[in-house]
Amino acid sequence: MKILITGVAGFIGSNLAASMIKTGTEILGIDNFDDFYERSVKENNLAPLRASENFSFIEGDIRNASVFNNIKDKVDVVIHLAAKAGIQPSLQMPAEYLEVNINGTLNILEWMKNNQLNKLVFASSSSVYGSNNRIPFSEEDTNIFPVSPYAMSKRSCELLNHTYHHLYNLDIINLRLFTVYGPAQRPDLAIHKFFRTIANDLPLTLYGKGDTSRDYTYIDDVVQGIMAACRYLLNRDQVFETINLGNNKPISLSELVASLERVTGKQAKKIYTSEQPGDMRMTCASIDKAIKLLEYNPQTSLEDGLHLFYDWYKNKNEAKLSLR
Ligand SMILES: NC(=O)c1ccc[n+]([C@@H]2O[C@H](COP(=O)([O-])OP(=O)(O)OC[C@H]3O[C@@H](n4cnc5c(N)ncnc54)[C@H](O)[C@@H]3O)[C@@H](O)[C@H]2O)c1
Repeated sequence: MKILITGVAGFIGSNLAASMIKTGTEILGIDNFDDFYERSVKENNLAPLRASENFSFIEGDIRNASVFNNIKDKVDVVIHLAAKAGIQPSLQMPAEYLEVNINGTLNILEWMKNNQLNKLVFASSSSVYGSNNRIPFSEEDTNIFPVSPYAMSKRSCELLNHTYHHLYNLDIINLRLFTVYGPAQRPDLAIHKFFRTIANDLPLTLYGKGDTSRDYTYIDDVVQGIMAACRYLLNRDQVFETINLGNNKPISLSELVASLERVTGKQAKKIYTSEQPGDMRMTCASIDKAIKLLEYNPQTSLEDGLHLFYDWYKNKNEAKLSLR
C-alpha cells in the first residue's frame, strides 16, 4: 500500500504519516515548507519519518503542477492536507490562500485524473459552517456560508472535489476537521499559543468574553478518522462523502483556560479584548455520520489531551535547553 500525503511536514501530516508507517504502509510525502511557521519545526516533524525506509519525500509546491511529474510510482490513496491554514492570516493575504488552497487542489485533481488515480481524502474544516448557528453542525446542512477567505477556500475545494467526482469518477471524502490539537500542533493555534504564554508567565490575550467555544479534537482521534476514511475509500467505488471529524463536546474559552491552568499549575494573566472578524462564535460537530461510516470513536478527553500536549511541550523545550 502506498499513500501520498501532501503537507506531510505539518502538524497533522507528520502525525498521520508516523501512524501509517507503523501499520506497514509506504508513505510518499510532499511539502514546500511554507513560511507560515518555521521550517526548522517542520524539519523536526519530518526527522523521525525520514529514518524509516517506508518514507520518501519530495520538496515541492502544489501550486506548481509539474511537481507531480516527479511521482513515478502508483499511489493507492492521496491524502491532501497541504494548505495555507489559519483563519486570521487569510484576511491579510486572501489571494495567496485561494491560490494555494484552491489552485493547488485543482492541480492534484488534474494529476489524479490524468494518471488514473481515483481515491482522495481531503482535509476540509469546521470553518466552512461559517455563521451557522444550527448546533450541532451537520453535513446534511448545505445552507452554509463561510465567513473568512480560508473557510471559503475550503468550501470551494469541497465543491471542486464534487465536480471531479461527478465528471471523472474520482472517489472522494471531504473530512471537516474540528480544531485539532496535540503534539506538534501548529504554533499559531490556541492551545499551543496559550501553553507557551502561560508557561512563560506572559499576558494571555483572549478574544471575546470567554463564552466562545470550540470542539477540540485530539490528534490521535483525527489520525484514526483519516485512516478509516482511507479504508472506506479502498473498499468501495462511487464514493463522494463529506464527514465531520470532531468531538461533539464544545468547550468554552473560559473552560479551556481553566483546564490549562490546572494542567500547568499556573495562573493565566488574562487580558480580554474584542472578538476578531472572521472567527466563529462556536463550533460543534455532529459525529453521527463519522460513527456510522467510519466507526469513528474519539477517545481522548480534553484534560487528558492537554496533559499529553504539555508533556510533549515540556520535553521539546527541555531538549532545546540541554542543547545550549
Ligand atoms: N489543525 C487544525 O485544527 C485543522 C482544522 C481544520 C482543517 N485543517 C486542515 O488540515 C490540514 C493540515 O493542517 P495542519 O494543522 O497540519 O497545518 P500545517 O500548516 O501544520 O500543515 C500544512 C502543511 O502544508 C504545507 N504547505 C503549505 N502550502 C503548501 C504548498 N503550496 N505546497 C506544498 N505544501 C504546502 C506546509 O508547509 C505545512 O507543512 C490543512 O489543510 C488545514 O487547513 C486543520
